[in-house]
Amino acid sequence: MKAIVLAGGFGTRLRPLSCTRPKLLFPVANRPLLDWTLERLAKSGIEEVILTVNYMAEAFVKRYRNFTYGMKITYSKEARPLRTGGPIKRAEKLIGHGGPFLVLNGDILTNMDYAELLKKHKEKKATATIALCRVEDPSRYGIAELTKNNRIRKFMEKPDRRKAPSNLANAGIYVLEPELFDYIPSGRPVSIEHEVFPKLAEEGKLYGHSFNGLWVDIGEPVDYLKANRLVLDTVVKQSQLGKDVIMGRETVIEAPSVVGEGATIGEASKIGSHTAVGDHSVVGKGVRIENSIVFGGTRVSDFASVKGAIVGEGVVIGRRVKIGDCCLVGDHAVIEDNVRFTRGVSVCPFRRVTESVLTPRCLM
Ligand code: GDD
Ligand code: MG
Repeated sequence: MKAIVLAGGFGTRLRPLSCTRPKLLFPVANRPLLDWTLERLAKSGIEEVILTVNYMAEAFVKRYRNFTYGMKITYSKEARPLRTGGPIKRAEKLIGHGGPFLVLNGDILTNMDYAELLKKHKEKKATATIALCRVEDPSRYGIAELTKNNRIRKFMEKPDRRKAPSNLANAGIYVLEPELFDYIPSGRPVSIEHEVFPKLAEEGKLYGHSFNGLWVDIGEPVDYLKANRLVLDTVVKQSQLGKDVIMGRETVIEAPSVVGEGATIGEASKIGSHTAVGDHSVVGKGVRIENSIVFGGTRVSDFASVKGAIVGEGVVIGRRVKIGDCCLVGDHAVIEDNVRFTRGVSVCPFRRVTESVLTPRCLM
């Protein structure tokens, strides 16, 4: 069986971190999000993955050139963004008409059982079967109204909270029959959620399969931090140190947390819980980092603290700097000594910051 992964989004809600890297390659517990998905696909017996790319396509090619979890990876590069349906239509020849195939929104972290979804799809002889999970806020997702027989009677993309027919959300994981290609017009951007699913629902050919497992859409910074926490809690579970990590005296790594290969953590620093520090990062002494994601090659100087924040690659954080909840620091930014960010401050890549910022805003 083949799978299509939609990987071409701009990650707008994760700017400025996504200005220098596609969100599917953001590290989750020190491994790109897409690695977690590809590994699951390989374990489920998928033999070929079609990555539909466009924004920063070369970053995917570079990452998976020599490293494909034993699967064949084919790229389908769009000349312009074709949204969520257009890329599927564009991959028609690569998929062929031999049987059902899997489609995944690439920005999802989940442990759902793809084989189970395929089984349900076959039982119902559906044209399309959507994995569904319960959510708090239906207005952020595609929402399905399900019959007792698991047929989707109605599909609404991001409905107004009051008009949502249920809180069963499209999990961004589908099994589709080749017949579905006939529902997608070619050569233009198509939203499968707006143009295809509602029509299939009307025709009685759309089914749903609800599941209760781990599921996060990494759309916004809070979701990204949540995904990192979930993987640390359920997969990593302990304090995990990569190869050649150097630790100072009285340093504590509180579980669950990961520290990447070749990192240095200075004396009397406390990392964790729920923290990922990337490869080759250098953390000084007396530093506190908790509930945060620090990408690789970053320096956090003595007595600094990072709490509930995301810090990009190759960033330099000065001495006694304080970075608070939901702050995002873009790659290679420099935060000078004693600077304080309270909450919701974003810093663009390569920016140098010399003064504290005490209200949420983006420093361009
Ligand atoms: N190739 C390609 N081209 N991929 C795209 C494009 C494009 O033009 N636009 C978006 N994508 C990819 C994104 O990279 C992402 O993996 C996926 O398509 C979904 O796009 P998002 O922009 O993240 O959509 P969303 O999160 O607002 O909503 C979608 O996902 C929800 C579940 O997380 C919808 O499918 C909702 O119905 C669903 O509930
Ligand atoms: Mg999304």
